[in-house]
Amino acid sequence: MKIGGKHWRTIWPEDEGAVGIIDQTKLPHRFETLSLHTLEDAAHAIKAMIVRGAPLIGATAAYGIALAMHKDTSDAALDAAHDTLLETRPTAVNLHWALKRMRDRLRNQPPAERAALAWKEAATICDEDVEVCRAIGEHGLKLFREAAAKKKPGETLNVLTHCNAGWLACVDWGTALAPIYMAHDSGIKLHVRVDETRPRNQGASLTAYELGSHGVPHTIIADNAGGLYMRQKQVDLCIVGTDRVTANGDVANKIGTYLKALAAKDNDVPFYVALPSSTIDWNLSRGEDIPIEERSADELLKMTGRLPDGGLATVEIAAPGSPAANPGFDVTPARLVTAFVTERGVCAADEAGLRGLFPKQ
Ligand code: MRU
Repeated sequence: MKIGGKHWRTIWPEDEGAVGIIDQTKLPHRFETLSLHTLEDAAHAIKAMIVRGAPLIGATAAYGIALAMHKDTSDAALDAAHDTLLETRPTAVNLHWALKRMRDRLRNQPPAERAALAWKEAATICDEDVEVCRAIGEHGLKLFREAAAKKKPGETLNVLTHCNAGWLACVDWGTALAPIYMAHDSGIKLHVRVDETRPRNQGASLTAYELGSHGVPHTIIADNAGGLYMRQKQVDLCIVGTDRVTANGDVANKIGTYLKALAAKDNDVPFYVALPSSTIDWNLSRGEDIPIEERSADELLKMTGRLPDGGLATVEIAAPGSPAANPGFDVTPARLVTAFVTERGVCAADEAGLRGLFPKQ
C-alpha cells in the first residue's frame, strides 16, 4: 500500500544479508524503518511486536531463518533458529507454518546452498502472501457488493472491524482490510467503525492509520461501543482477521473479537473472518486447544502517545500496585461466524466448508 505516495511492503530484503521492516510500535506517530541483521533481531522484532499480525509474523520468521543461515548453515543452526523463532509468539499458527516450510525446504539441501535457498524461500513466502491477500480481497469484495446491493441508493455500507488485519499485519493488502480497500476503490460508499482494540490499540494506531492513508472513511470507536452500534442498526457487516482457525472452524483472534461476534449474532449482523490458508491449524480440532498468549501487564497499565510537542511519552493509567491480566487473544466459536473468506473463496465456518476449499489437507 502507499504511504506518502510511495509503495511499501511491511518487510523487504536489503543488501548485505539484512531485512527491512516498518517499526509498528512507532505508528501512527512516526513512520520509521529498521534493519534486521541477525536471527536474534528477527526474534526480538516479533516478540516486542515491532512487527505483528499473523501473516507478517510468519514472513518475519522466514527471514529470521535466512538471517541465521547467513551466519551458519549447519543442521544444528537450522534447528536452533527454528526453535528460537517458534518461541516468540504462541497463538499465530502462521509462525509454525512458515518455520516448517523453511526447515522442510532447507533440511535436505547441501549446507553450502542453504543461505541462498533460505533467502529465496523467504522472498517467495512474502510474494505468495501478497497474492493470497489480493485473492482474499477479491472474494470478500463479492460479499461487500452483495451487502451494498441491499442498501438504498446513496446509502453508506457500514462495516466494523477489530484489531488490525490490514497490510501492516501481512506483507501487503491485508486479510480483513483487503475487501475494504477493494470495495472503496471500486466505488462502494462505505464507512468503517474501527475498534480501538485495547490494550495495545492496534485499531486506533494501525487500522485507522492505514484506512486514513488510503482515504477510506472511518471512525475509531471504544471497544465497548460496537454492541450499541449494532443494536442501532449502524453496522451492516463485521469483518476481522485471525491468528489461528482450528479444523472445526473455531477462530482465535485479538482479545475482544468474541464479544463482537456475540453482539453480531444477537443483532443478525453478518460476522466474517478473513484468513489465508496458512492460518488454518489442521492439527487442532477445537478452539479450546489453541494456546492463548499472556502478555505483560504493562501493556494494560501504561499507555504511550504523542505529546503536543511531538515527542512520545508513556504514562501510567492505574493506581500503583494494582495487578493486571492481559490475555492477547480469545476464541470465537465457529457457530458465531457467518463465513470464512479465504484465498480460494468463501466457505461455511465449519470443517466441511474448510475441507471443501482445501481438500488436500
Ligand atoms: O497481537 P497482534 O497485533 O499480532 O494481533 C493481530 C491480530 O489479532 C490480527 O487480527 C490477526 O493477526 C490477523 S492479521 C491479518
